[in-house]
Amino acid sequence: MKICFIMYPWTRINPKQDSSIRIIHEMVLRGHEVAITHPSNLTIRDSVTLSLCKTIIRADKVSNSIPSFYHSVKFKEEMRPLKDFDVIFMRDNPPLDALVLNFLDSIKDDVFILNAVDGLREANNKIYTAAYYDPERELIPATHVSKNIDYLLRIIEESENDKMIMKPLDGFGGSGVIVIEKSAMHNIKSLLDFYINGNKERSNYVILQEYVEGAEKGDVRVLMLNGEPIGALRRVPAKGDARSNISAGGSVEKYKLTKQDISLCKKVGEKLVRDGIYYAGLDIIGGKLIEVNVLSPGTIKDINKLNNVKLQRKIADYLEGVVADIEVQKEANL
Ligand SMILES: Nc1ncnc2c1ncn2[C@@H]1O[C@H](COP(=O)(O)OP(=O)(O)O)[C@@H](O)[C@H]1O
Ligand SMILES: [Mg+2]
Repeated sequence: MKICFIMYPWTRINPKQDSSIRIIHEMVLRGHEVAITHPSNLTIRDSVTLSLCKTIIRADKVSNSIPSFYHSVKFKEEMRPLKDFDVIFMRDNPPLDALVLNFLDSIKDDVFILNAVDGLREANNKIYTAAYYDPERELIPATHVSKNIDYLLRIIEESENDKMIMKPLDGFGGSGVIVIEKSAMHNIKSLLDFYINGNKERSNYVILQEYVEGAEKGDVRVLMLNGEPIGALRRVPAKGDARSNISAGGSVEKYKLTKQDISLCKKVGEKLVRDGIYYAGLDIIGGKLIEVNVLSPGTIKDINKLNNVKLQRKIADYLEGVVADIEVQKEANL
């Protein structure tokens, strides 16, 4: 198959840790044609959506070592129409530039894009989880999204628990996630004002969320492929921090999903597939869904190492299956 990764620049990859390079390596090992490009290279010429791509030149032998593959790979640079690929894999870092989705809209009926353009549009910030239909309060912690300071102050005052979590709507990597305490109420109005009105150009929404007990011991990252969990690990926050993100200093541990986690993954997985979110990273604490990461979730290398597996093989198997199904459909429609 021909696959194009729309991603962060090749030079920014750390081959020892990066997840994208593991998927790319597996695709190259299997003899697929792999190109990479960056959102800034997207172009439209005479109604055709193209991108300046770096296509990996097929080598006689592909190294099994990912760092040596990374360092030895050779590219051919050329403008390529995106609809000539079988698969487009979005692996760019958040935050997502909505204009990228407009480029992809023009080819979404011709190419299998993961995640689907409409799914990315819907799930690219934390409203996606906050608005999850959960009448029994089983799946997500009590969550409020607003930019109305009086409303948010009232919620904090009325809360039964002393602690709550506050976070920006479109943050990532743990940035701006803080614990607020009712007992320190004199700071809260100023904090809310800063989070909401700190950026002079435009005001921001904030999320106020029930603090899920047990979060001090870490959260669980689950990689979901086509609605099924394919791997997980526990992330433990650094001492003195409430955030488990690895980029915020968290460390990783082996983790086996509990019955409650599996049941959550099943329910969430069905919705993800319906929404075209074929590949995602869930953040779970105490069996509750905290976040769905739809853009370039990492941790493949850590899950592989902790469990002696190669998740990139599952991803490659899945993509090969999707492309084979599309071929069968095309034949049937001829
Ligand atoms: N409701 C919560 N209760 C306890 N801890 C939380 C809660 N929400 C977030 N956290 C902690 O903060 C981290 C980052 O929050 P998250 O919503 O995943 O945002 P980000 O996009 O920055 O990763 C989580 O991994 C978890 O450790
Ligand atoms: Mg997270």
